[in-house]
Amino acid sequence: MLRQCTRPIPRWRTVSNVLYARCRTTAPCQPISPVSARTGWVGCLYSTAAASQSQPTTDGHIEILGRLHPTDSATNVSPTIVSKTTRRLHLQRNHPINILKRRIESHFRDYAVMDSMDPVVTVHQNFDSLLFTPDHPGRAATDTYYVNTNTVLRTHTSAHQSDVLKTRKADGYLLTADVYRRDEIDVSHYPVFHQMEGIRTFDKKKIEEEAKVDSETSAIQGAVLSESNPIQPAHTTREAQLVDLHLRHSLEGMVRDLFREEKDLQIRWIEAYFPFTSPSWEMEVFYRGNWLELLGCGVMQQEILDKSGNSDRIGWAFGLGLERIAMVMFDIPDIRLFWSTDDRFISQFSSGQIVKFQPFSKYPACYKDISFWCSETFHDNDFAEVVRDVAGDLAENVELIDQFQHPKTKRTSRCFRINYRSMDRTFTNEEVDRIQDQVRQVTKERLGVELR
Ligand code: PHE
Repeated sequence: MLRQCTRPIPRWRTVSNVLYARCRTTAPCQPISPVSARTGWVGCLYSTAAASQSQPTTDGHIEILGRLHPTDSATNVSPTIVSKTTRRLHLQRNHPINILKRRIESHFRDYAVMDSMDPVVTVHQNFDSLLFTPDHPGRAATDTYYVNTNTVLRTHTSAHQSDVLKTRKADGYLLTADVYRRDEIDVSHYPVFHQMEGIRTFDKKKIEEEAKVDSETSAIQGAVLSESNPIQPAHTTREAQLVDLHLRHSLEGMVRDLFREEKDLQIRWIEAYFPFTSPSWEMEVFYRGNWLELLGCGVMQQEILDKSGNSDRIGWAFGLGLERIAMVMFDIPDIRLFWSTDDRFISQFSSGQIVKFQPFSKYPACYKDISFWCSETFHDNDFAEVVRDVAGDLAENVELIDQFQHPKTKRTSRCFRINYRSMDRTFTNEEVDRIQDQVRQVTKERLGVELR
């Protein structure tokens, strides 16, 4: 989840479109030990084969979790991404994501738990039902995986808010799921991650009792609301303040419980903007010397409640990124580790408790640069996608290191540095060269750039 939420800038990630320049050729690798044929390059070979087909389609269809979906010109999901849909890390017993999920669920005792919703949702569910404007940047194909024009891999768990409310069976819900976003490549970003959505609604007529909190124990003494973070016209000030206070009180309680080892944990609320809540907030905690953003939340837009048949109710919602929290609580330094099937990772969490991860070793890294003249439609996330498809989890980090615009032709050139490092083995210089060659080839074919 990214910062940057003050109005009018939407909270969605903005990817800089800086223009880039000529760069150095490939850098030498670190000394590397030989690699066995068996542990060799299998993952990458798979990815490479997959990447050379532009779409993972059979007769104009794509299969996701056993279901066929028609493809069209909007389709941009790759086989690499589709292969992640079966993993459901949040449901794997004693995986750190599962441990954290259960910890939070045990805090919100009376809330109904939902955790097996299909990741394929309509554009309507993911965006329109949440009042995203038609031109919202989150809808861009550079940011979102489209299965086809009308269908996406959900980019957030909020995509299910309206459906959950339509068949409302409980006052509170915790909904956990894998979510998908086209993104940059580094140790804290992965195209698939896990979110937990919390939803709580109240009977407007009984709001005084239902939303009552013991404000003595809360650091928040009434909502501090400003013009930039307004109460909705559909709500009275009293209603909105009660719901807002209940929301922040509940979340503070949960976070203090989660970080129970940290005495006097400092929490702060940052004004935020989401199309589907107002007022909206992000919660940050001061942890090991840094302010860490944990979640986004707010009072649900009444229109969403009204349209789902709940005009007599008022409510709040929050969404938190489980990897973000798990990385600090379990001391997991690289987001790729969550996807590891290496027993040296998995077995460390068999107790089902929050324990500190003991790194088994750090294998040598090796970086390679690639530079090219961009096409007009080039986007950094498209390049990241090529790297993911070809190199899989061997790519630790992709950094834009140089930019250049030709003064006469106005053509732009970019140079990216790809840092390769395996989580569980060393690899040979030749292997990395082979991967890099593939990256170059697929970049050229798929993105229509001119390599330099
Ligand atoms: N869906 C938002 C995100 O992914 C988080 C959020 C959920 C914010 C619910 C407000 C309410 O960033």
